[in-house]
Amino acid sequence: MSEGRILGYTEKELMDMDPMVLRAIIRERTHHTIEVLIYRIMAGKMAIPPDFGDAVERLLDIWRRRGLPTDAPDIRWALNYLGMARMVRSGGTLELEAKPPEPFTEDEMKVVERLLYGRRSIRQWLPKPVPDELVRRVLYAGLIAPQGCNVGATRFIVLRDPEEWRLVQSDIPLENGVMILICQDMRIYQALGFDKRVPQNIYFDAAAAADHMLLMAHALGLGGVWLTHGEETQRRIREYFGLPETFVSRCHIFIGWPAEAPIKSARMRLEEVVVERRGEA
Ligand SMILES: Cc1cc2nc3c(=O)[nH]c(=O)nc-3n(C[C@H](O)[C@H](O)[C@H](O)COP(=O)(O)O)c2cc1C
Repeated sequence: MSEGRILGYTEKELMDMDPMVLRAIIRERTHHTIEVLIYRIMAGKMAIPPDFGDAVERLLDIWRRRGLPTDAPDIRWALNYLGMARMVRSGGTLELEAKPPEPFTEDEMKVVERLLYGRRSIRQWLPKPVPDELVRRVLYAGLIAPQGCNVGATRFIVLRDPEEWRLVQSDIPLENGVMILICQDMRIYQALGFDKRVPQNIYFDAAAAADHMLLMAHALGLGGVWLTHGEETQRRIREYFGLPETFVSRCHIFIGWPAEAPIKSARMRLEEVVVERRGEA
């Protein structure tokens, strides 16, 4: 197995690293050095790299030597990919249960279109409690959203108390709902060099989570809106929750039982927004 640094980190640094950051490095390395390669390898489009799986093997070895638990879903996912990489490297074949996506049936498409075309921003809510179970489902939709390099830096804060909503700058009056802050552990992005290499992905991650959550809220009959806040809110949230400088609240959504039925805002014609190469003048 190859020695040396992983993503620029020495073994000692990885042994001393905060487990949450090390875990993100395990996810990122599994993603980049096994997941995105293995299906191409299996399709015969790519040779097996000589060090295939080595970095993840070393990281997981460090994880275990540190006595950190291996039963979390993301660590199990990494272990599974490591097993697959070893199998491919030893010349074995993999029996995969997963199948490529198939088109939805017409009936299923109706549901999808109802979700995507029916969602609209709701800015007034009924005085009716939102059960925890529904909030959980909304949060899980945010957790499962796409994220750059699978790093998992998104964190959520649920605020139910109207007094706590006042910590957060919102440009509309809020009532009768639940506020969800979409936050980020910037230590993870910094450790992986996102802040220098792909700073835009940090914002995209938060956006993808917010959008997924609003779609789930809509499917559950809840109505919600995306709201923007800035540095003053980020500071207040850090202070209130006793969180470090590296914890950043990026944006928030507010969801509840709709007390209004706004007309869905119209967009331009599709032909007007699809840009094509102009012909010769
Ligand atoms: C990045 C972003 C920021 C937004 N910020 C606000 C906001 O601060 N206040 C607000 O009332 N709505 C906000 N919205 C909701 C938009 O106004 C809304 O999505 C847009 O008008 C389209 O309407 P629809 O969501 O009903 O399709 C925001 C949406 C996005 C994507």
